[in-house]
Amino acid sequence: MCRELPPPLGGPPPCCQVCPYGLYAEQLSGCAFTVPRKAQQRSWLYRIRPSVTHEPFHPLNFPAETLTADFAQGVVTPNQLRWRPFAIPNEPVDFVRGLFTVCGAGSAGAKNGFAVHVYTATASMEDSCLANADGDMLIVPQQGGLRLLTEFGVLEVAPREVVVVQRGIRFSVELLDGPARGYVLEIFQGHFTLPDLGPIGANGLASPRDFMTPVAWFEERECHFTVMHKFEGQLFSAAQTFSPFNVVAWHGNYAPYKYDLTRFCPVNAVSFDHPDPCIFTVLTAQSDTPGVAVADFVIFPPRWTVAQHTFRPPYYHRNTMNEFMGLITGMYEAKRDGFLPGGASLHLCMTPHGPDTTTYEAAVSSEAEQPAHLGRDTLAFMFETSMTPRVTPAALGATNIDRDYYKCWVGLKSHFDRNWRPEGQGDNADAPLQNGEGVAPASAPPAGAANGVAAR
Ligand SMILES: [Fe+2]
Repeated sequence: MCRELPPPLGGPPPCCQVCPYGLYAEQLSGCAFTVPRKAQQRSWLYRIRPSVTHEPFHPLNFPAETLTADFAQGVVTPNQLRWRPFAIPNEPVDFVRGLFTVCGAGSAGAKNGFAVHVYTATASMEDSCLANADGDMLIVPQQGGLRLLTEFGVLEVAPREVVVVQRGIRFSVELLDGPARGYVLEIFQGHFTLPDLGPIGANGLASPRDFMTPVAWFEERECHFTVMHKFEGQLFSAAQTFSPFNVVAWHGNYAPYKYDLTRFCPVNAVSFDHPDPCIFTVLTAQSDTPGVAVADFVIFPPRWTVAQHTFRPPYYHRNTMNEFMGLITGMYEAKRDGFLPGGASLHLCMTPHGPDTTTYEAAVSSEAEQPAHLGRDTLAFMFETSMTPRVTPAALGATNIDRDYYKCWVGLKSHFDRNWRPEGQGDNADAPLQNGEGVAPASAPPAGAANGVAAR
């Protein structure tokens, strides 16, 4: 194996007639040739043998029952769903065989939508690689470090880091320190980008300088190598006689990258009230509708919470987006119990959710007004999507699904006191509410700024 870089190949044209070192030039495009320049993503790879040199693809018979992009067969349910940690098998299972699709929407073939997978792995991939023709994969390790051999070089990632491998890039996953588990967000359209910062300004959230791409790494090795190809959710394999990690040099802007989530700079309220969770967006894959994401990757990192007169945990809500959450480590601020590292939850659009009973009662206590640091050892994340996912039958029938999840809210009791008055106001205050009484605005407020007090 070698890690040698040749002199820069910037002199000759990208597709030179005869490349330096006798290499083959090969372009990998991540978009249509004709997209606007700002959206253009492509790289040139200079390799010992081209990637086309392989035997025909044949369908691969594993693990089709758990890895899918066919969501027409998925289950429709508005219920709040939660899974206990996904079990890591005892037998040797590599990254690809350990992929388990939880939910998804749209179509890999029609290029819309996404899929959410969990992976568990106990073995490194040996003389095999995966190329995903369906979309980009954002991999979120939860347990165990991974070493990704890619056509572009080597990326090592550990829990609290993420890696993005774009559509079509061949990669192999080795385990760095034992059994591994994590989450994958796959998008069937577009690519992940950094969110706009708007009034936040030039700094804050994820900084471009912290995203790392590999340098070229190659091996010139003859072997029986298996190239796996995921195409419309199905796996195919082709044999070739050499390692595909034979790219001696590359240039371009279509390349895998990693990001250390501890480099994320959270922005939050410093006086009162609770920003929406989009304030913690690390990466976004935008749809064709401005401001609407196919999928956002959002984290809930350790941070100070200081807002006063504010219910600090995530508020109770219903919304048009769908929220798949996972926990990398620690204890999530809205759930004191049951949401565990390696597990997951799914709240579908317009299904109500929010903090559990224990969290609510703690958050409304007087002590909760003090500045506090939210879990130095906690890191939760959310895949937030605009298209409504269906849950795979395998995920809904999984032995680790928490069928008692709804009970975490059952204990939320009424605190309504119709005799309540603002603090410091005694009998001189307005009369307490009576049945059928309320306060209505004198005139219609402007759209989007309504305030109302219910009559009952
Ligand atoms: Fe939510």
